[in-house]
Amino acid sequence: MKITAAITAVEAWVPKDVLTNQDLEKMIDTTDAWITERTGIKERHILKGPYGPSEIAVNAINQLLKNENLDPLEIDLVIFATTTPDMVFPATANVVTDRIGAKNAWGFDLQAACSGFIYALTVGAQFIETGFCKKVIVVGADKMSSIIDYEDRNTCIIFGDGGGAVLLEPNTEGYGVLDSILHSDGAGREFLHMKAGGSAKPASEETVKAKEHFVYQEGKTVFKFAVTNMAEVAARIMEKNHLTADDVAWLVPHQANKRIIDATAQRMGLDENKVMLNIQKYGNTTSGTIPLCLWEWKDRLKKGDNLILASFGGGFTWGAVYVKWAI
Ligand code: UT7
Repeated sequence: MKITAAITAVEAWVPKDVLTNQDLEKMIDTTDAWITERTGIKERHILKGPYGPSEIAVNAINQLLKNENLDPLEIDLVIFATTTPDMVFPATANVVTDRIGAKNAWGFDLQAACSGFIYALTVGAQFIETGFCKKVIVVGADKMSSIIDYEDRNTCIIFGDGGGAVLLEPNTEGYGVLDSILHSDGAGREFLHMKAGGSAKPASEETVKAKEHFVYQEGKTVFKFAVTNMAEVAARIMEKNHLTADDVAWLVPHQANKRIIDATAQRMGLDENKVMLNIQKYGNTTSGTIPLCLWEWKDRLKKGDNLILASFGGGFTWGAVYVKWAI
């Protein structure tokens, strides 16, 4: 009997502080109308204080453990997708396993920008399918506010902080992560990156003065690649798995821009009432967007629902995952 990796629980968490479009109007030359029309975003949550995304993950995972009445000692592996780790090292997964008391687990971080969660979900599923692990936590969380220049209207309107986690467990009835198509193209790195702070250009007085520790994005170019590739890969995973639009219960898209999401749904032939959309409340939380959607929609999901998760992000990285909902 083939073992698949079923998502058996999901939780998420966002910090309480909110940055609205009206707040941004006072900080930069922009308007609520422009942001709403061009992105679909109305507000985003901001994690204040000396915390990294481990704080987001720990809050989400502790709630998940409580909901499931699960002992943290049962967790085998934590995979943490993030672009804004607490520290360069050790991995934020290590911070999390310690803070949640998962003493028997090992863990690592995975960096694939906005596609981090679908990459991590695919990796986590392999450990379940091979039988190497029985309980895997896959986290996607980011504190994007830590690398955003709040004087740059091209980027500060888009991003927010938050994220979530899912539990993967073996299933022999055909539920769970059934297929993935993942891509990366490093040629896209010039259009979306952070210029300094890595080992090639460590932090210095000059890099700080030149604002090189913030997200640099050529929005229009990224938008063009995102619209084409996210729509294309979502349609391709449907074809590959012989799914028609009627067969798909939900599109779970990365929330970068409502216009990109609309184009993807249209290419898939999906009605907008089958599209998870919460960008208006959270903006782009990078690795956090997809678990935040699953969490908000979990009460509406039915066992056997076909979900297509799709993403595009820095790197470039993009892909789609086909999940049959198991709970
Ligand atoms: O998740 C990771 C991957 N990232 C993405 O998928 C993001 C993809 N890109 C985008 O979502 C969009 O390109 C943005 C939302 C970043 C920008 O929207 P756009 O429709 O592509 O705007 P634009 O950059 O082409 O700018 C159009 C105009 C420009 O003015 P001019 O040159 O036409 O006079 C900008 O200066 O809008 C201006 N503009 C703004 N105006 C008010 C740019 N940002 C703002 C702003 N408020 N915040």
